Amino acid sequence: MRLSQLGISSEFVRSVSDTYTAQAMIMTDKDNNQITAFHPGAMMQAHKTKIEKRADIQLGIISPDGRDAMLEHAEQFKHADIPFVFDPGQGLPMFDGKELMHFIHLSTWVTVNDYEGKMLCDRTGLSSAELSRHVKGLIVTLGANGCEVWVDGQKTLVPPVKAREVVDPTGCGDAWRGALLFGLEKGWSLDKCAALGNEVGARKIAQRGPQNYQVSDLHIG
Ligand SMILES: Nc1ncnc2c1ncn2[C@@H]1O[C@H](COP(=O)(O)OP(=O)(O)OP(=O)(O)O)[C@@H](O)[C@H]1O
Ligand SMILES: [Mg+2]
Repeated sequence: MRLSQLGISSEFVRSVSDTYTAQAMIMTDKDNNQITAFHPGAMMQAHKTKIEKRADIQLGIISPDGRDAMLEHAEQFKHADIPFVFDPGQGLPMFDGKELMHFIHLSTWVTVNDYEGKMLCDRTGLSSAELSRHVKGLIVTLGANGCEVWVDGQKTLVPPVKAREVVDPTGCGDAWRGALLFGLEKGWSLDKCAALGNEVGARKIAQRGPQNYQVSDLHIG
């Protein structure tokens, strides 16, 4: 319903009538300590949806999902010649260094936040500079400090946009990735995608809730 109101196709959304949707309850205190309770529910069946080559699909993203779905969808994207972003997020701890390197070799870009970036380097034994040589680019988002874009071993710091107000950080990472996919689809450089990501992330943090921000008045050059 919400997707159709936003003009987004739900063609590939699988409906599982006898299982709950995945749910997370996250309690955060004022020092940013978090306790999370997660029920995967229908997410554990995500691998039943297969990715096939289609002329109208030019780009994909592998974000946290069921373990099998992440592994299989990455293979299917590669097989279908669809470039994709590897965005392991909170799913990262499910994979060892060898599996993470395999994802990186299949993918075209990698995005992580600061914490995930450190874990990715620890598990693969490679630095951000080294990892970036296996893909077209690695981006590490840095919260209020913007993000770093690594291409071919070289780092560019893309500065943050000052938020009008800091209300709720939940969903900043997803907001940033929405801008990334928008820019990649238009063929923009990673730096330009990242700059838009920082704009959208700053918009998001000024609103309560992960999807209640507006981008309709953003100037997109
Ligand atoms: N305080 C802030 N001020 C301005 N921009 C911010 C702020 N916090 C986050 N952002 C923007 O959002 C982007 C993503 O934020 P962050 O690195 O915190 O992602 P994350 O930890 O994955 O977030 P999430 O909680 O959604 O998983 C940053 O790169 C930045 O552009
Ligand atoms: Mg995140």
